[in-house]
Amino acid sequence: MSVSPNPQAPAESCPIRTMPEHVAFIMDGNGRWATSRGLPRTEGHRQGLEALRKTIRHAGKVGIRVVTIYSFSSENWNRPATEVSFLMGLLKRFVQRDLSELHEANVRIRVIGGRSDLEPGILALLEEAEDLTRKNTGLDLVVAFNYGARDEIVRATQHIAQRVKDGELSVEDISEDTLSQNLDTGGLPDPDLIIRTSGEIRLSNFLLWQAAYSEFYFCDLNWPDFDEAALDQALDCFCNRERRYGGVDAKAL
Ligand code: FPP
Repeated sequence: MSVSPNPQAPAESCPIRTMPEHVAFIMDGNGRWATSRGLPRTEGHRQGLEALRKTIRHAGKVGIRVVTIYSFSSENWNRPATEVSFLMGLLKRFVQRDLSELHEANVRIRVIGGRSDLEPGILALLEEAEDLTRKNTGLDLVVAFNYGARDEIVRATQHIAQRVKDGELSVEDISEDTLSQNLDTGGLPDPDLIIRTSGEIRLSNFLLWQAAYSEFYFCDLNWPDFDEAALDQALDCFCNRERRYGGVDAKAL
């Protein structure tokens, strides 16, 4: 699999200067994809993993540097036990089967989300993936697993408060950057583009802090149907957006 960022090959119609550096995905609609075909919901997740593989490969090819995937939210524990257990198994299979290929393709894996309540076997596997790929310099694959943005912000706040209590940081020195650096995503750029499939138009507790200036792209495809052409379409749309970050269009002055 060749997934190293290649800035020489952006999506065709996208001027290189506007190519998003970081694209985050809310991979929604696996269940609906399956039930509309009379299949068990788990089959939707299985096909969803195939769509994910295609997406990672294509993202690297068109020059995206960071891909974040919402693979299991802190609220997904509320699903039936059989589905939760299937998703845990799917993550294990993904890491076990794809890790060496991702490593060879120079992908660096980073996991975000709460770790304290993860099953030790899964935690060990995720940490192994991070350790093995830590020094890679290609695409950053950020796996949001057991992730909830509010939980992430609370954990970051607790860490900062502890540093103040220990005399390592003064209250006056707490800045936006302090919070950013203490989030699970510390050191990564904020997402330029967040894509959600399946026609749902909400963030669902995903990257709430980091999404302050993200562009959003919603499409009706269910995640298992998301493919290279769908990603190109989202990137084309992004290229035509004008990002002002609260300022005004220079041409309007
Ligand atoms: C949302 O669809 C999807 C998920 C909760 C899981 C996402 C998982 C994958 C795409 C497969 C890859 C997984 C791993 C762990 C690497 P939904 O089930 O909420 O769909 P629905 O809204 O139609 O019910």
